[in-house]
Amino acid sequence: MTEIRPRRLRRTPALRRLVRETRVSPGQLILPVFVADGLDEPRPISSLPGVVQHTLDSVRAQAQRAASAGLGGIMLFGVPRPEDKDANGSGAWAEDGILNRAIAAVADEVGDDLPVFADTCLDEFTDHGHCGVLDASGAVDNDATVALYVQQALSQAAAGADLVSPSGMMDGQVAAIRHGLDAAGYGGVGILAYSAKYASAFFGPFREAVGSSLVGDRKTYQQDPGNRREGSYEAWLDETEGADIVMVKPAGPYLDVISDVAAQSRVPVAAYQVSGEYAMIAAAAERGWIDRRGAFTESVTSIVRAGAQVVLTYAALELEGWLR
Ligand code: PBG
Repeated sequence: MTEIRPRRLRRTPALRRLVRETRVSPGQLILPVFVADGLDEPRPISSLPGVVQHTLDSVRAQAQRAASAGLGGIMLFGVPRPEDKDANGSGAWAEDGILNRAIAAVADEVGDDLPVFADTCLDEFTDHGHCGVLDASGAVDNDATVALYVQQALSQAAAGADLVSPSGMMDGQVAAIRHGLDAAGYGGVGILAYSAKYASAFFGPFREAVGSSLVGDRKTYQQDPGNRREGSYEAWLDETEGADIVMVKPAGPYLDVISDVAAQSRVPVAAYQVSGEYAMIAAAAERGWIDRRGAFTESVTSIVRAGAQVVLTYAALELEGWLR
């Protein structure tokens, strides 16, 4: 009688390697980094052990490391000085705003060796911490915000970003940015759209990382965590609006959404292993409760297995070392 024994192919590391369905390679990992204004030296972020706020000098070195490691890209976030924040987040598009200076520095450092992504959102730059501007009633004004995103995207393209990355979940933001870039002669600058972005508790440590001023939550623009089909809908909308890459965020708790989006999309799908996902593993590993290398490798493999072609993770450089 025929014995069906799947364990045959699990007997040795070489056999397991032969039949492994999902491989992660450094070229599909994007490293998110924070650049803060007015720092003399990099400052550790206590909620994200191992991650720092960079200076304009240290971010150049970090970008160089990412390029040498063969990573897929670097995603830049700006952290302005508190006194430079205002109601409209004007530091977001100022040529001398910290994010635009960081884009220019990194683009100068790595040239075409490493794709440079820029976060396109106002939340780090507004004194109320919301991703957009507020109307008279205090609600986030969609269309007024989108107009500012276009202005910000143009300033990021001028600074040298390869792809702008609208993360504010305003309706119509991708189409407006695409039209704005094209009209200004930036047809070659791409859009990584934060398409299915959920109002998530897992963004907690990020808010410390960027010195967020937010009081309250983002539930009127980010998605409800219970909604699966809506994630597909948002990603489809962004694809039709001209997104070059669509993204699901957070990643680990939303593998079903990643899988759905991967099945329906014609464009590459990214996923963001966010600050809280990183912090949980880092904190448990610090206590000796979990194996850091094993947990990061497995979590990112699972995100890729679900259908993400590109993964943003704060562990990107470490993973490259482990994968080598
Ligand atoms: C908004 C933005 C956020 C993150 C990326 N872009 C925060 C938010 O929406 O509140 C979160 C990233 C993370 O948690 O690692 N500009």
